[in-house]
Amino acid sequence: MKKSLKILFISAEVAPYAKTGGLADVAGSLPQKLKEMGHEVRVALPGYQLIGGEQSYIADFPVEIGGQQRTCIVRQLANADCITYTLNNYHFFNRRYIYCYDDDGARFAFLCKASLELIKAIDFKPDILHLNDWHVGPAAMLLKVLYQEKDPYYKGIKTLFTIHNLEYQGHFGKETMELLGLPHRFFTPEGAEFYGMFNFLKSGVVFSDKINTVSKTYAEEILTQEHGESLEGVLLNRVKDLSGIINGIGYDTFNPMTDPHIPHHFNEKTLSNKAKNKQKLQDELGLPRKDVPLVTVVHRLVSQKGLNLVFEAFDDMMALDTQFALLGLGDPYLEDAFLALMKKYPDRVSVKIEFNEELSHRMYAGGDIFLMPSVFEPCGLGQMISLRYGTIPIVRETGGLKDTIVDASVHEDGNGFSFSEITSAAFFKAFKRAVDMYRNEPGSWLELVKRGMRNDFSWEHSAKEYLSLYDELLLQTDE
Ligand code: GLC
Repeated sequence: MKKSLKILFISAEVAPYAKTGGLADVAGSLPQKLKEMGHEVRVALPGYQLIGGEQSYIADFPVEIGGQQRTCIVRQLANADCITYTLNNYHFFNRRYIYCYDDDGARFAFLCKASLELIKAIDFKPDILHLNDWHVGPAAMLLKVLYQEKDPYYKGIKTLFTIHNLEYQGHFGKETMELLGLPHRFFTPEGAEFYGMFNFLKSGVVFSDKINTVSKTYAEEILTQEHGESLEGVLLNRVKDLSGIINGIGYDTFNPMTDPHIPHHFNEKTLSNKAKNKQKLQDELGLPRKDVPLVTVVHRLVSQKGLNLVFEAFDDMMALDTQFALLGLGDPYLEDAFLALMKKYPDRVSVKIEFNEELSHRMYAGGDIFLMPSVFEPCGLGQMISLRYGTIPIVRETGGLKDTIVDASVHEDGNGFSFSEITSAAFFKAFKRAVDMYRNEPGSWLELVKRGMRNDFSWEHSAKEYLSLYDELLLQTDE
């Protein structure tokens, strides 16, 4: 039998406790799968105020930030599948929201340092420290240039840094690096400096033992100027240690047969229950119960998601006699644009500007078509979730969308519709192909729905890829 690994997984978001996007879903499901596969996995996230539920005290220790001692109180979440710790500090995390404070640099610097102190305080020395996204990039740097240099206890710990989205890098003033006690000599272009700022994500890319991102295509795209977000050079330097692993989705969380948030459970043999979910969703959203394609969108409303293409094509979409329902919040200009469309088409359009996990499940289950016309998409989970609920995705061929969705008008075994050019005309062509099949070829549509539901997007395969990557890391020798 293969050796059981000790893995410490750090993320600023972990579902269901603290979520704004896909990062949380991954952090809430991959560790659990690795645990099921026989590994000792523990997860840590900040102790935000919004985390409900029972927690028990585990330890406390001081964390030095900018010469000041801050206390970290470690608590363990009572009902988590994996051992999950919250790292609490009243000053930094006892606030209403997860992000968007002026001192986010200091807040996540605290998270980085507290994560490393945690290891020794509870004596859980991991084989792999698995760090996710910009918030914890500096933990790799701290480990390599300070902790492993000064304290033999930390020797041998390997780091994997996973980039879920290169767009968010965490740029802060040089003083944030000083808060962490990181030596000056690393504030260089070869180190963590980026246009005069301390770049959290870059520090993870430069100082981790290996780096991966969340699909094979995105791993290639980020090496180009178009998608490299000005870090393509830094990434190219590390190309030997960079790979792509597509995310899975939590098959227990997103299961149309057991989902507590949907009114009627179903599988590919009981699709009449999916139709009932559609009617209930229409009721809930105040749309008439009509048998027209119900088009759904569940996203953060940010430019990445390409929703301006939808906006531009909207009148044409409506001319095809469809209903449209959007759930999400984000950039005010996108919120306003879609609210205006609801005013224009009051009995055919529903727009909910909110974060509502439960309603999102009902939208996945009750919709016919799910839109994801992203400009770029590291992985994307929505297209996989919608397929599991028999809702057909229309995607742009980029990143993880390209790796998971095959156009059914081109390939017999396709599972959705796709387009390549970032124009509303290209999007609308794909949209029309989908609506035409729905209306004119109900038999083919039904087959498409069933085929999508049979796709396997569980963690089974990808978790094994992570394990191979961890194994490769353990074979790396310390320089
Ligand atoms: C980010 C990316 C998304 C990815 C998710 C989880 O939210 O934008 O594409 O699926 O992280 O890795």
